[in-house]
Amino acid sequence: MTVLISGGTVVNATGASPADVIVEGERIAAVLAPDSELAAAARRGDARVIDARDRYVVPGGVDVHVHLQLPMTPESTSSDTFASGTVAAAWGGTTTVIDFVGQARGRRVRDALEERFAEAEGQCAVDYGFHLSMGGVDADSLAELAALVDEGITSLKLFMAYPGVWYSDDGEILRAMQRAADLGVLVMMHAENGLAIDVLRDQAAASGRTAPVWHGRTRPALLEGEAVHRAAALAAVAGAPLYIVHLSAAEALAEVVAARDAGRNVFAETCPQYLYLSLEEQLDRPGLAGARHICSPPLRSRHEGHQDSLWRGLRTDDLSVVSTDHCPFCDKDKALGLDDFRRVPNGLGTIEHRMDLLHQGVVAGELSVSRWVDVCSTTPARLFGLAGKKGVIAPGADADIVVYDPTAEHTLGADAHHMQVDNSAWEGVTVTGRAETVLSRGEVVVEAGRFRGRAGHGRFLRRSLCEPLR
Ligand code: URP
Ligand code: ZN
Ligand code: ZN
Repeated sequence: MTVLISGGTVVNATGASPADVIVEGERIAAVLAPDSELAAAARRGDARVIDARDRYVVPGGVDVHVHLQLPMTPESTSSDTFASGTVAAAWGGTTTVIDFVGQARGRRVRDALEERFAEAEGQCAVDYGFHLSMGGVDADSLAELAALVDEGITSLKLFMAYPGVWYSDDGEILRAMQRAADLGVLVMMHAENGLAIDVLRDQAAASGRTAPVWHGRTRPALLEGEAVHRAAALAAVAGAPLYIVHLSAAEALAEVVAARDAGRNVFAETCPQYLYLSLEEQLDRPGLAGARHICSPPLRSRHEGHQDSLWRGLRTDDLSVVSTDHCPFCDKDKALGLDDFRRVPNGLGTIEHRMDLLHQGVVAGELSVSRWVDVCSTTPARLFGLAGKKGVIAPGADADIVVYDPTAEHTLGADAHHMQVDNSAWEGVTVTGRAETVLSRGEVVVEAGRFRGRAGHGRFLRRSLCEPLR
């Protein structure tokens, strides 16, 4: 099957220019200057033609941090399944997602892996991969890492937060980083000082401060900055590359900048919620309205200027990636903590909106259109072992392509989205720009306001090592 995407502006991380794209089967076959003989021949033949006039033609989004059907607490599992979450991703122009195999302390990595593979198998509408979340750094889990690399799981998440659940102490982190350094595995870090935060949380609750906003007030930005500093120091000692996940605070960004300026292999992602939402406007609302915005790290104060710092970090490449940390919970789950913020399951849903929300950065003049593609597709693909295959419109790459209408206005909310969650952290937000036609490995999965994909089209991605570090 040949597809000709004609008349659009092809946007890569390296620049934007008018071009036609020819897709043969699952791959991009050619990117051609306008009015080429090859495109004319494809048109005369049996190629299917997609008219991309006045549209951007961009690589499908690569969301490297999602949590589909994640059992977060004994009572609550994130509400998007592999099936529903990948459909929602496709609607929003994201054609690759990377989720996590969660190895809880005391569990064997292999068992966790087999269980997670079985959950995803045959369910996904777009391609998917896994990181390992290591909750128990022990001889078994460290020994298993080499086999995981061979199987295409080349990144590892560790936690300085969530004591008693996912938390690792500094000694464990160092040991895991040493092993990761030997193997070339990219260490992802949830950087918040969980032990100190637990003291603050319990003190707040004991004095009756139980409203959602106390989730934010007991997780100060300083304790994220401190954790990033410690993680960077441990990574330097171990000689390991480091990737800070869901960075939310100016203090944390300053530590990333310092580490990078010192020549260390430290990278960081932020998420749309930290760029747009705030403690004052969303978290400091009573009841469910606030609880719906509980995530960790928390939404940060706008008065303190975190959001502006993060936009600047994206422009200057101090921040390399925007992921979603997609982890939605329905109101019945969020309501479990209405009288105690500590019981609210952490996370919110954004998998469908990331490309559009970051396109707002282009509309507002915060980012160039190429930088939008870079942070949403190209760099996440490069850092997570998918260079050349995902995140680029070039011959030989997978034909994951979005024909994007940069002028379409729409309003986000629970009634309009395709995510399987009955609330939206983005309720009422109007954005300009929308994925109009979406191809996943050459198959049209979204077109003319209809989903045309299928569960099971998405394949597991055996990822190689982080490209800039190979
Ligand atoms: O609130 C969040 N971030 N939920 C997902 C789990 C995590 O720490 O990434
Ligand atoms: Zn985390
Ligand atoms: Zn996460």
